[in-house]
Amino acid sequence: MVHEKWLEEMNSKKMSRRSFLGASGKTAFATAISFTIPYSIENKKADASFTFTENPFTLGVASGDPLPDGVVLWTRLAPNPLAEDGLGGMTNINIPVHWEVAEDESFKKIVRSGTEVAAPELAHSVHAEVHGLGAGREYYYRFKAGNKMSLIGRTKTAPEYGSHIKNLTFAFVSCQSWTGGRYAAYKNLAEENVDFVVHLGDYTYEKRDTETLADFRINHALYKTSPDLRAAHAKFPFIVTFDDHEIENNWAKDVSQSDREESNERERFLALRAASFQAYYEHLPLRVRSKPQNGQILLYRKFTYGDLIEFNVMDTRQYRDDQASEGFPGGPLAPEASDPARTMVGSEQAEWLLKSLSQSRARWNVLAQQTIMAQFDYDTGEGISVNHDQWDGYRADRDRILKFIEYRRPSNPVVISGDWHSSWVNDLKKDFNNPHSKTLATEFVGTSISSGCGWKDDVEAALSVNPHIKFFNGDYRGYVRCQVTPKSWQSDYRVVSSASNPDATVSTLASFIVKNGKPGALRIGGVDVSNIVANTMFSGKPSPVSVTLSNGTAKAVEVDVSINVPKNWKSERVTIVLEPSGSSTVEVMVIPPAQIPVTEKLSLEVNAGKKTQVFGASLDFEAVSVPSGDTLLLALDSGSATSALLPSFSRLSPEDIWVAAKGYGWIGTAPSARDRNKLDELQRDFTLSRNTPTILRLAVPSGVHRIYILTGDASYASGNTVIRSEGRLLAESGGEFNPGQFKWIPFELDGGMEGREIDLEITGALKDGYWRIAALVMLP
Ligand SMILES: [Fe+2]
Repeated sequence: MVHEKWLEEMNSKKMSRRSFLGASGKTAFATAISFTIPYSIENKKADASFTFTENPFTLGVASGDPLPDGVVLWTRLAPNPLAEDGLGGMTNINIPVHWEVAEDESFKKIVRSGTEVAAPELAHSVHAEVHGLGAGREYYYRFKAGNKMSLIGRTKTAPEYGSHIKNLTFAFVSCQSWTGGRYAAYKNLAEENVDFVVHLGDYTYEKRDTETLADFRINHALYKTSPDLRAAHAKFPFIVTFDDHEIENNWAKDVSQSDREESNERERFLALRAASFQAYYEHLPLRVRSKPQNGQILLYRKFTYGDLIEFNVMDTRQYRDDQASEGFPGGPLAPEASDPARTMVGSEQAEWLLKSLSQSRARWNVLAQQTIMAQFDYDTGEGISVNHDQWDGYRADRDRILKFIEYRRPSNPVVISGDWHSSWVNDLKKDFNNPHSKTLATEFVGTSISSGCGWKDDVEAALSVNPHIKFFNGDYRGYVRCQVTPKSWQSDYRVVSSASNPDATVSTLASFIVKNGKPGALRIGGVDVSNIVANTMFSGKPSPVSVTLSNGTAKAVEVDVSINVPKNWKSERVTIVLEPSGSSTVEVMVIPPAQIPVTEKLSLEVNAGKKTQVFGASLDFEAVSVPSGDTLLLALDSGSATSALLPSFSRLSPEDIWVAAKGYGWIGTAPSARDRNKLDELQRDFTLSRNTPTILRLAVPSGVHRIYILTGDASYASGNTVIRSEGRLLAESGGEFNPGQFKWIPFELDGGMEGREIDLEITGALKDGYWRIAALVMLP
């Protein structure tokens, strides 16, 4: 089965309850061992005792914390996931949940099974720790509660301790603000072939009103309404740790960000923290040892993959001293930031970490943690400006770790970080102020899944005074895929083409390699593709698509650029030779179909030969074509009263009320207009309204004429635009459109024998209720 298709196909299979019970009957022995229901719970015939009318597995399934002999399986019963009391539509009773682990996706070879109690105290979440599995193997699992069965998840155990591992692939992610963007990164990650995913925090973001346990539960449930997040969980085991936003921005130990000195503040914050920890545990595949106790949660822990790699998963929030200073993204370096008495990790965790590093026999030793460890000075002048929430604000702890690495020399230390919503590759230096000092370790900072990077310009402006930063990009959301062998570690910065488009495609922005024994990453040279521009094209006419190509290698490279087009399009192929480190903008011509307006998703194909990789953001782009205005009966570029017009087109702005001589215009309440200042004359602006309906009158000449209306929005997602006339539905765009996605909607108007005036009644639906018109044309 094609790897990426397996989950969908597997989960579309109808599975009868009978086969589930039949299968579990064969493993009665394993069931008995794992049967952990307390005696007080009524449990006559466990699986049949409760009838759900709705699917209780709305939040999906997950596995996590892989060890050589097993994983923890997670689910939560929530037939109504966003129920206001935070209980997911469940009542106040215990429900036995049966689980099964099989070697095959059809569950013919079930190897372990058991029952856990989903209790209201834990929001009916289930954390089933499975033991006795084979090391380094793939398994499938599912749950059953009452009369309902969950979808099937896939997981993989860690290899045997000390065993020789030739390669391992994993991804790390962080920062998935629900309002920041969509989860195209997860959608694409779910189609990768990785052994597991490490989540470095900001799994959820607090809202102004997240205060109670119910609030935190609802917030987690909201995030899990994303099918893409659920798909990633169902496909790979996750190793998770939190950062600040699971509770609130920049919290530290028992101190709220707001630093208010009111007497009840600490108490209030500890209650908030306890509620957040509880909900975090309830919604993630964490082992029972991480279950919060007395308002604390144990998250720092170790994962070993044979002799190849060891992960020290850290918690840099719960034990840290309060930030020495504020200022965003940086502020003048506070003297307290270097105070040796202050800590980022706490003494116990520090001891655990250094001990772990000194005892490790793995080739690569990872510190999986939250904030950027490398020094970064935001001040390009005399002063020093740092972010005190990151390791720059906790210099003593950073020095302790880096000194330990320098003197005890654990094998290949690599730090992976999140928090900062941008992609970085950093040298961790013995002396950050001296570019010639020794590089002790490598840091890879992954961009966010969805959260935005409003401080990109501040970072870019200061890169020149921070030469140990080898790479920075704040434009794209995504994840980092790491391919590790005994000889090398490769990090691929996988980014999606758009933060707001749930279907955005993924590409590799850049790749870096660390060689065994040589700290510091080297960029893998290739051809970088950027700035694809395709303006509105005229039907049947050669139209340019421009793209910038840069050669990141030390050799001249011949690059072949073409455009994949549908049958009725034509396109040319361009070959260009790029000098070493050379860059060039090339135009590739395409010819859209003649005479009719078309919207089409096209993609560039860039080939630099077998030895040279191609990097960059997505190669997909949206093409819009329209016949030249002088061949049309009516050619209207809709938008504001002053914005630029597509050549050969006339203006349709809110000011164009009906005038018979012009042959078009609004009747009654006119709409408003938006100019997104993005894309070309036709696509950048449009008229819109949600007054129902807005009337646009057209003078239609005799005979039947085809009309096309272009709808879409350069910057935001848009909804359905609906056209009616004389009480009849003429056309609608349907569905929701992604930002930058446009569609021509066609319909016919009959001018009769002598021509007549016809009123279009335009309404919006879906999304925000607005209709949008970027252009309107009438064919002869
Ligand atoms: Fe974040």
